[in-house]
Amino acid sequence: MCGIVGYTGNKQAAPILLDGLSKLEYRGYDSAGVAVKGTDGKHEVVKTKGRLRVLSDMINGGKALKSTCGIGHTRWATHGMPSVTNAHPHHNDDQSIVAVHNGIIENYVELKEKLLGKGYTFYSETDTEIATKIIDYYYKKWNNPVEAMVSFTLRVRGSYAIAVMFEDYPEEIYVARKDSPLVVGVTDGETFLASDVPAILKYTRSIYYVDNMEIARLEKGKATFYNVDRKVIKKKTKTIDWDVEAAEKGGYAHFMMKEMHEQPSVVANTLNSFIKDGKLDLGEAGLTDAQLAKIDNIQIAACGSAYHVGVVAKYVIEELARVPVHVDVASEFRYRNPIFNKNDLLIVISQSGETADTLAALRGAKESGVKTLAIVNVLGSSIAREADAVLYTKAGPEISVATTKAYSAQLIVAYVLAVQLARVRGKIDDGRYSALIADMLAIPSAIEKILSDDESLKWFATKIANRKDVFFIGRGIDYAVSLEGSLKLKEISYIHSEAYAAGELKHGTISLIEDDTLVIGLITQPGLVEKSVSNLVEVKSRGAYIMGVTSSGNYSIEKNVDFAVYVPTTDPLFAASLAVIPLQLLSYYVSVTKGLDVDMPRNLAKCVAVE
Ligand code: AGP
Repeated sequence: MCGIVGYTGNKQAAPILLDGLSKLEYRGYDSAGVAVKGTDGKHEVVKTKGRLRVLSDMINGGKALKSTCGIGHTRWATHGMPSVTNAHPHHNDDQSIVAVHNGIIENYVELKEKLLGKGYTFYSETDTEIATKIIDYYYKKWNNPVEAMVSFTLRVRGSYAIAVMFEDYPEEIYVARKDSPLVVGVTDGETFLASDVPAILKYTRSIYYVDNMEIARLEKGKATFYNVDRKVIKKKTKTIDWDVEAAEKGGYAHFMMKEMHEQPSVVANTLNSFIKDGKLDLGEAGLTDAQLAKIDNIQIAACGSAYHVGVVAKYVIEELARVPVHVDVASEFRYRNPIFNKNDLLIVISQSGETADTLAALRGAKESGVKTLAIVNVLGSSIAREADAVLYTKAGPEISVATTKAYSAQLIVAYVLAVQLARVRGKIDDGRYSALIADMLAIPSAIEKILSDDESLKWFATKIANRKDVFFIGRGIDYAVSLEGSLKLKEISYIHSEAYAAGELKHGTISLIEDDTLVIGLITQPGLVEKSVSNLVEVKSRGAYIMGVTSSGNYSIEKNVDFAVYVPTTDPLFAASLAVIPLQLLSYYVSVTKGLDVDMPRNLAKCVAVE
């Protein structure tokens, strides 16, 4: 995610902006910039690709910019590669309006066409430049900054925390917020704004949290808040008692918990980036419907959790689109001299976009002339640059080594691909197509519901924290979820576990089941409930202690398990997105109970960029 900061007061602004941006570096970024009100009354914009230190050196630690009012930004690229041109702040033609933004403007194409029709031109690839020029358009129309911000808020769709300076209103900053965090701090004669509390905690612990569709006029030592009816609203401040480190985690104890709680918005942002006028559209990713229709075989290569997404994708794509899918871990795929056919598609999945084995699998397929598609989180990463087509997850930077929000975002992209493939191949009708899209749109709130009720998982984690062996079993998509649940437990709690296709148990592994062996069974697939339950009965009869994860309403499993966890119902094809959440939470609480380093587990790196 991008980071924004702002200051208006009686001190030099630029050093304060740089200090605030440094507190947001943990969010990940690829470029940075500041804008201040210059001594001649004109805005001065300084920006660079790369680290904040480069920007600081360009302005002598901020001392080179004399103004007492300014805004700053660290960019995590979502639209347009990392570059100086695409870095923020962005501005209108004469720089009389400058802006910084964190979020995603979903209807930026429509807005750009509107502005082009009004004679506007564009210098960057970003949605933020478009947002800035929309504000310019409305400011020219109303000649009033609050009106311009209100019109912006009513006109754009998507998420934003945006801070704007108008040359006609020196020493003032105007902000608006929807779905991207934005805080304001006011002290004696000074006013601060930031994406996140850590950036301004040094100056004040009394914070206004800007709510959705609110606008504010920030003057020195004063903040006036408005709703979209232009009515002044009274807001109460909140006192922050976190330290800076806790604040970086949004008040959560670990980045992993913060990122688990970001899953609803990340899944929604990712899904919405592929929905245009109620239909799925992968054209922007370089995958036209005509190209999709030609695919008659899919191979997937990925590592770790990304591989587990590939296993889910296999079940969903084959069920919906009736296209054969072969999934393999990239480290095996790349060395087994894979066989490709003319109309094959290789899909690689990677959060970092730099995983060595996955990148090698991609390069090997390209050498064979196969069309390649990447599902990636990091814009401009090696895999993103080298694949023929890219479907981006909008997960933002993922700090915790154990992936959660990126995994969930990858899942939704896999569903989008499966549904669109099925559609172009005529395997589903309009009704099913719309129903599947509606079910996907309901996933974020279902995840939210599970996250909001984790007390029983916290309790169960304390009961199992000293276990030495755990089995995860499931059939079909439940088996794919078992793989991810097992990895999460292993990587952050150091408890040995293994995931097993439930029907495979009796072919050997069941010999390991003895009195009190912990088995975690996934039962979300209606067509497989009976079989899955019979597998639970088999292990139960050998003394196993069973936790069952199933869909709400399937209460009959209570007679077969010792601890039941329910997730909201959804189309069974999308159940992985929900069933995985309790397993993420359980692993997290076991790790915390054991006093381990949840975010930085031993022996692990966030990105395995070497073999
Ligand atoms: C997942 O929690 C692990 N951190 C690891 O398995 C990870 O998924 C794997 O290394 C792949 O990384 P990538 O998605 O960046 O390619």
